[in-house]
Amino acid sequence: MEVLNRTHHDDQAERLKVVTGLLAPEASLPPKYFYDELGCALYGAICQLPEYYPTRTELAIFQSRRAEIADAMGAGRQFVDLGAGDCCKAESWLPFLSPSRYVAVDIAGAEIERALARMSLDFPEVDMIGVVTDFSESLDLADVIHAGPVTFFYPGSSIGNFTPEDALGFLKRIFAMCSEREQSGLLIGVDAKKSNARLQAAYDDALGVTAAFNRNVLLHLNRRFGFDFDLNGYRHLGLYNAVLGRIEMHLESLRDQTVRLAEGAVRIFAKGERIHTENSYKYTAEEFEALLAVAGFSRIQRWTDADEQFNVFFAC
Ligand code: AVI
Repeated sequence: MEVLNRTHHDDQAERLKVVTGLLAPEASLPPKYFYDELGCALYGAICQLPEYYPTRTELAIFQSRRAEIADAMGAGRQFVDLGAGDCCKAESWLPFLSPSRYVAVDIAGAEIERALARMSLDFPEVDMIGVVTDFSESLDLADVIHAGPVTFFYPGSSIGNFTPEDALGFLKRIFAMCSEREQSGLLIGVDAKKSNARLQAAYDDALGVTAAFNRNVLLHLNRRFGFDFDLNGYRHLGLYNAVLGRIEMHLESLRDQTVRLAEGAVRIFAKGERIHTENSYKYTAEEFEALLAVAGFSRIQRWTDADEQFNVFFAC
């Protein structure tokens, strides 16, 4: 087992990006800052909430159609897990796919270190590699995947956290890697459009776990960059924007307040002003099939649940 760290920490440049986003008239933050150690744990808790149906629904599709989906993907390929996290979703596929190599890619280095250490004991025959990187910016896997066939795995509707334009760019990059290697493809889970009420409940749960996940981004930034956000000064919003087909998460300022961001830079938030922290786009099956086709994929298979709440595609 080997874990390669591809995060080049240019703290100054990162801080500048974050400060620029916060100083914009419509303040925003990149969602990657959700995922510090506590944020990963909170996301794990979100996935267990009764209201957050995507994880459970996707798992039920995987479990009920496992053999059929595995058959579409083919065995003995390299298996590349994008946004691997604790690697549990990929782990359940390994006995069915017998991959020659498992590559876990994620920005959360500690999580993949722990997961690969655990999995390499259970699957000693599989070559395990971890790559710590922010693949929303670039995805260079040239030195960790060889010329043979590869299956990319992108579950959990994480594609929804990209804008549709960025999602298309990302799918094109995956397609390019697949087209260089025969018998390669992408297994991807995508949340479907549905009622506002169901969607909003999933992103504004009764226990307040999503609210904690959202506000934790401020705690993370305070620690990482020395800002002085007062967490009690913001409330969580999780709203479905039906026109754009996306859940939007915001942090709304509960009063007029000033935040110190960097030497000399402050941001004044008026009561009611918002920081846009995340988008989660939802796609009908037809919309996502069209996106896959524009990216270059020509053979697309789809599996769904009885109520068509969530779709799983294998595209090659
Ligand atoms: C990681 N991603 C797919 C989750 C989503 O549903 O967009 C992140 C999340 N944000 C709030 N709840 C879950």
